Amino acid sequence: MENAKSVNYSRTTITELMIPSYANFGGKIHGGILLSLMDKVAYACAAKHAGTYVVTVSVDNVEFRQPVEVGELVSLHASVNYVGRSSLIIGIKVVAENIQSRTVKHTNTSYFTMVAKDEEGKPTEVPALVLESDEDIRRFLEAIKRKEIKNAYKELLDNAKTSMEVDNSLHLLETERCIVKRERDMESRW
Ligand SMILES: CC(C)(COP(=O)(O)OP(=O)(O)OC[C@H]1O[C@@H](n2cnc3c(N)ncnc32)[C@H](O)[C@@H]1OP(=O)(O)O)[C@@H](O)C(=O)NCCC(=O)NCCS
Repeated sequence: MENAKSVNYSRTTITELMIPSYANFGGKIHGGILLSLMDKVAYACAAKHAGTYVVTVSVDNVEFRQPVEVGELVSLHASVNYVGRSSLIIGIKVVAENIQSRTVKHTNTSYFTMVAKDEEGKPTEVPALVLESDEDIRRFLEAIKRKEIKNAYKELLDNAKTSMEVDNSLHLLETERCIVKRERDMESRW
């Protein structure tokens, strides 16, 4: 663990002005613009810690709570929350600031899992993380918990998919806002 690095070593912030070409017809910023900026800051932060090329493996908790407007300054604050052997979880806090009205909105906090790759493209070990504050420790522990919950959820979802038989599950749709119009139901009526 002699090449371990602190959370502060790779802490990264990107600030970008939201220009009109980023907006949709309603004048709000496209979610995809924010996702792309989040991916960039996650890459910069993870690559700095790993000292290698990294790839994005998964993205959790993307939920835009408030719209971002043209003219606002968006800042994305990224830090390494957790490291495994070759994976890193980067926490990203996104805030939008309106300079004129001096208001600041916290639009979302998301977690990007990145994997460090060696020159042959294989996952490679990353430096251990030095936790220098209670906040660093809390985020590391939370990441472990989130990973456990995610794995359990994935298993539940996989089981639900394999056990779901369409014909036996049609009653679940009775209170939903959909109309079943399968070709074979129509044919059996003729
Ligand atoms: C992610 C990837 C590296 C996994 O490769 P692999 O040969 O299965 O490697 P491993 O099983 O050793 O997994 C490597 C690490 O990724 C983690 N990982 C793999 N799949 C994961 C997932 N769905 N979610 C979170 N972590 C994941 C593993 O837990 C492991 O972490 P650890 O080393 O810290 O324990 C590989 O699938 C890949 O390169 N995917 C494409 C990524 C990419 O190109 N992203 C850009 C999209 S355009």
